[in-house]
Amino acid sequence: MTESKKIGVTEVVLRDAHQSLLATRFRYHDMEAALKDLDDIGFWSVESWGGAIFDSCIRYLGEDPWERIKKIKSMMPNTPQQMLLRGQNLLGYKHYSDDVVKKFVECSKENGVDVFRVFDALNDPRNMHQAIQSVIAVEGHAQGTISYTTSPVHTIDLWVGLAKNIQDMGAHSLAIKDMAGLLKPYVAFELVSRLKEELEIPIHMHCHATTGMSVATGVKAIEAGLDNVDTSISSMSMTYGHTPTETLISILGGTNRETGLDLEKLTPIAEHFQKVRKKYKNFEGSLRGVDARILASQVPGGMLTNLENQLKAQDSIDRFDEVINEIPKVREDLGYIPLVTPTSQIVGTQSVINILSGSRYSTVTNEVKSLLKGEYGATPASVNKDLQQEGIGDSAVITCRPADLLSDDFQSIEAEFINVIAEKNITAEPSIENVLIYAMFPEIGLNYIENIDNPDYFESEPLEITELTDSSYLVVVDDHEYSVTLRADYSVTINDGSLINEVASAPSIQSGTGIVIEAPLGGNIFRTIASEGESVEADSTVLILEAMKMETEIKAPSPGVIGTIFVKPGDTVKPGAPLFEIKS
Ligand code: CO
Repeated sequence: MTESKKIGVTEVVLRDAHQSLLATRFRYHDMEAALKDLDDIGFWSVESWGGAIFDSCIRYLGEDPWERIKKIKSMMPNTPQQMLLRGQNLLGYKHYSDDVVKKFVECSKENGVDVFRVFDALNDPRNMHQAIQSVIAVEGHAQGTISYTTSPVHTIDLWVGLAKNIQDMGAHSLAIKDMAGLLKPYVAFELVSRLKEELEIPIHMHCHATTGMSVATGVKAIEAGLDNVDTSISSMSMTYGHTPTETLISILGGTNRETGLDLEKLTPIAEHFQKVRKKYKNFEGSLRGVDARILASQVPGGMLTNLENQLKAQDSIDRFDEVINEIPKVREDLGYIPLVTPTSQIVGTQSVINILSGSRYSTVTNEVKSLLKGEYGATPASVNKDLQQEGIGDSAVITCRPADLLSDDFQSIEAEFINVIAEKNITAEPSIENVLIYAMFPEIGLNYIENIDNPDYFESEPLEITELTDSSYLVVVDDHEYSVTLRADYSVTINDGSLINEVASAPSIQSGTGIVIEAPLGGNIFRTIASEGESVEADSTVLILEAMKMETEIKAPSPGVIGTIFVKPGDTVKPGAPLFEIKS
């Protein structure tokens, strides 16, 4: 610490903090009151947008994600807005063609994004290239990213090589993204020292607090010359989230690396988020302190809360520990890929299937097959060859940049969108924003656009609830207070006696002479492939279930004729729900 140089701070409360702590459920109107205060602090940037925000807005909240960033930007004229972009995957789960990447970046810049943190889940620099070039072209700040992980192949030299590659692409800065809190303080010191020696662009760092190391890691990295650090306001910090902003400001106060930020001005912001956080308590994960199991499983904070919620939806929260233990095995089989969206979801869902089905890889998701095929890019180490053979058979493995196989297709997506909305009689503008919503999330995006004016379609807003006694609560709806009693059967009565939440029992299905195939996981029926009365071979796909954001093919266990199909596309099914009948 020889020269005196202020450290820049990126505040992440508007994006990653509620993604990690509250499954990305914050609504815009619960942030709005804090935006002016946040704008006055002098942060290097505020992270406010990203894939999970976009997804949550259209899937659950019924909010226009483009409107959100536009409004935040207009409320915060003095602070650069930062987004997290999944390289060639943009905000989705597959690779997009280069012209779609370009359009997306242009549109995001126009709507208010200034800083683009571009990463690739496999750390394949070829997958960051187009996004970085597109950001440079619209005069945004292009930040390339190392998605930090540990494995026998991940050495400091490997990271420095990747970082140089990113600098050579023209990136304005580099981020070390430690999504699972695995970066140890002394390793960070070494890593940042080496990067400062060999790179000219500024180094930023993003660490999750889940393993308890983030504060120390931040301090050691700053001692090594780090330029910028990510933190989150105290009342939305730690556990699955990040180092508290105020803590870091205090630690550095009076040193030659101080932040120059005013602690007192942060108090009303902390108070605001402390208050609104209560409303979202049903989305909180169970972690109260530190989860040391992550040092082995490497599951990032955001994924842990999601995994818990998803296992709850599968009625299988009791299998949580088994799933956590399965994750390192699946990750090794897939070439030690880092766990970050979408690979965290791909590895997580496959691990859930391995555990819930009681048999490892008896069902392999389409996304795992794509990964084995090289469709996501190069994995850090070789994949398990037996699994690869089983998953993709003799089809050729892709070794080029995956997007080179895609032809430019923004126009065809646009034409398809115009067609689909005409066919379904949906009133919507074919604006670039809407076409991009459809491009990112074809099913959910279209449902969102169709239901923009139908709030009942989306998740209802959490109520402000005050606990009075063990079974009695005070609930506020539109400024009216209701006292409610929770009954033993978990239905709820309001004080006037009306029932607001009746526990439904599953419908029973009469099966004929065939075998009834049940849903291995809860989810939505994405597509039916075979029809009633059709003869099928063993192992042929009958329908596709979308569960935990991944596609799972449900196959015929033996040759036969398809009897009744109990479900149709769009249906929501619980685990164990009958899907179809097969007669021999
Ligand atoms: Co993060």
